[in-house]
Amino acid sequence: MALVNLPRVPLGIFPTPVHPVADLAGTPGLRDVLVKRDDLTGFSWGGNKVRTLEYVLGDALAVRADTIVVAGGPTSNFAALLAVAAAGQGIAVVQVCYGNERGGAAALALSKRAGACVEFTGSADRSSMDERAAELASAMRADGRRPYVVPRGGATPVGACGFAVAGVELVSQVTEATVVIPVGSGGSIAGLLAGLAATGSGIDVVGVSVSRPVEEIETQVATRATECARLLGITGTLPRWRVVDGRGPGYGGGWPEADALAGALLEHSGFVADPVYNAKALLWLNGHRDELPGPVLYWSTGGALAAADELTTEAKP
Ligand SMILES: Cc1ncc(COP(=O)(O)O)c(C=O)c1O
Repeated sequence: MALVNLPRVPLGIFPTPVHPVADLAGTPGLRDVLVKRDDLTGFSWGGNKVRTLEYVLGDALAVRADTIVVAGGPTSNFAALLAVAAAGQGIAVVQVCYGNERGGAAALALSKRAGACVEFTGSADRSSMDERAAELASAMRADGRRPYVVPRGGATPVGACGFAVAGVELVSQVTEATVVIPVGSGGSIAGLLAGLAATGSGIDVVGVSVSRPVEEIETQVATRATECARLLGITGTLPRWRVVDGRGPGYGGGWPEADALAGALLEHSGFVADPVYNAKALLWLNGHRDELPGPVLYWSTGGALAAADELTTEAKP
């Protein structure tokens, strides 16, 4: 892999551990699983996006950007971590959110606390964020500034490199497994596939889509995995993979079955599952464990801020 040539800002603590758990939630579908602890990546509030961020920020610094324009909704872990990390490097951040200003999201509070300038598109359509980010960047360029645009979730071939490294990291920890991982923008799974292709391991991957329809996200993942592999000079074939539908009522929380599972996870094993990604992916795994061959490794991606939002809402009198 040509990773050594890519600019990277070291932020996280790697490798994250692989932890065998006998009983995650008191349900047969979640017994005897391995858990890859990317909730413990070690920078700020952690989570899988620390890996993405290391390469996105490295690239922004390498091209001498003065402002990062990031598309990310009020609960975006990626945008919040980016705001914190960019502040440490002296780069300004503009975060473009969908919808209208609203309080109550810890991730957005963190972005603001780190000094990000936040703007709302006024549209409920989440793709409005990417469009507005591009518009803002053109206006900045016309003003002689050097903006660096980051799409939702940091899902670019460069951002995916963080998870290509994670794929190689995993193979040094586990030789055989079916990996189950939550999928939003698809950048993380795309990088993971590229990294596993470099190792030639027999690890299979199942992504659980929590926001986009399966066909749409599968096409995006396949394209990004190939682009990331090309960037890194990886010529091996991608492992066996697929994406399944874990959206429930749609993007975000508010799925009673997933919320109930999150409660059981906390009681049985202390596992903190956010309602947007991990509770949904684990709900899928709980119902489909019998279909998966060999040992199962659940890739825990963090999301502590949204989990805390959920608890705060529940606790309101
Ligand atoms: C906690 C958490 N898990 C999973 C994901 C999904 O990752 P990706 O967008 O790379 O598919 C995200 C994305 O922001 C996330 O914040």
